[in-house]
Amino acid sequence: MNSSERIYYIQPVFRPPSEANSLLIQLTEGCSFKCDFCMSNLRKEFKIREIDDVKKDVDIAKRKFGNLIQKLFFLDGNAMVTPTNKLLEVTEYAMKNLPNLERIGVYAHAKDILKKTDTQLKLLSEAGLKIAYVGFETGYDQLLQEVNKNATKADYIEASKKLMKADIMLSATFINGLGGANRPDISKVHAEESADLVNKICPDDDRIWYIAFLTLMVPQGTEIYRRKLSGSFKEMNSREILQELKLFINKINFHNNKAQCIFRSNHASNYLPIKGTLDRDKEKILSVLNYGLSHEDILRPEFYRAL
Ligand SMILES: C[S@@+](CC[C@H](N)C(=O)[O-])C[C@H]1O[C@@H](n2cnc3c(N)ncnc32)[C@H](O)[C@@H]1O
Ligand code: SF4
Repeated sequence: MNSSERIYYIQPVFRPPSEANSLLIQLTEGCSFKCDFCMSNLRKEFKIREIDDVKKDVDIAKRKFGNLIQKLFFLDGNAMVTPTNKLLEVTEYAMKNLPNLERIGVYAHAKDILKKTDTQLKLLSEAGLKIAYVGFETGYDQLLQEVNKNATKADYIEASKKLMKADIMLSATFINGLGGANRPDISKVHAEESADLVNKICPDDDRIWYIAFLTLMVPQGTEIYRRKLSGSFKEMNSREILQELKLFINKINFHNNKAQCIFRSNHASNYLPIKGTLDRDKEKILSVLNYGLSHEDILRPEFYRAL
């Protein structure tokens, strides 16, 4: 093995916290969308890399880590946008060459999923693409439009159903506080429409799927940062954030009592770490939220919050 050989990365890279121990392979760079709150495309141009170069990185990983690799994540913001033939080729290549690889994951914008046919998604799933992390952010169409998300609640419902049909695990994220402070009506509809979206995508079976809430951060360089500087956007405080999440949880109501929806609000951006299974742990989650609301001293301090 040539010890100087390096897997190609162009920093900063983007991956979900749960893929921290996975082999990270840069299939795409940046993101082809530009949401107002996100920094995925601020410091690099969107690009899909040459498949032969990606395969070379898989070969290097094989020489360096061999049997140790069980999970692989294709960086960056929306690797699902990669044309199916290319995504399939690198997925099959990694699964064939990394002997203990169990699954491959990607970030996916809803529109990237909708552009693929059911057959294409099934082929990808059978080849080893087993989890897609999709940023819903909210189920409220007006707010989705405001933050330039380029997707609707209906897109999320259709994209989720397509993933589930193809046996690709769904892990979706929402953003607490997305509408900003001093807009109680927006916050209310954000919580209600997001819960309605989750209720609507709940599958009929007992498969595992994930819903996570992050809390809005305002990174420098983003559109939302510019709005904050100009005074037209103000962040919610921790109390408003917890109230919004409480309304979301209250509105969760699944038709299927076997549902295994793993709920997390324990990201570094959150004020209060919460975990549970919806909808059976609703009361437990609500009591944690009530505790946080009445004991503000236990909340994560502002300076410890991060993306
Ligand atoms: C790197 S993005 C990839 C998601 C995927 N591209 C999509 O849009 O479906 C991962 C997620 O991080 C969250 N995120 C990004 N910027 C954020 C911010 N400023 N504050 C809180 N959460 C943020 C959003 O939920 C976003 O969907
Ligand atoms: S949220 Fe997703 S789609 Fe939007 S800019 Fe970030 S990575 Fe791209």
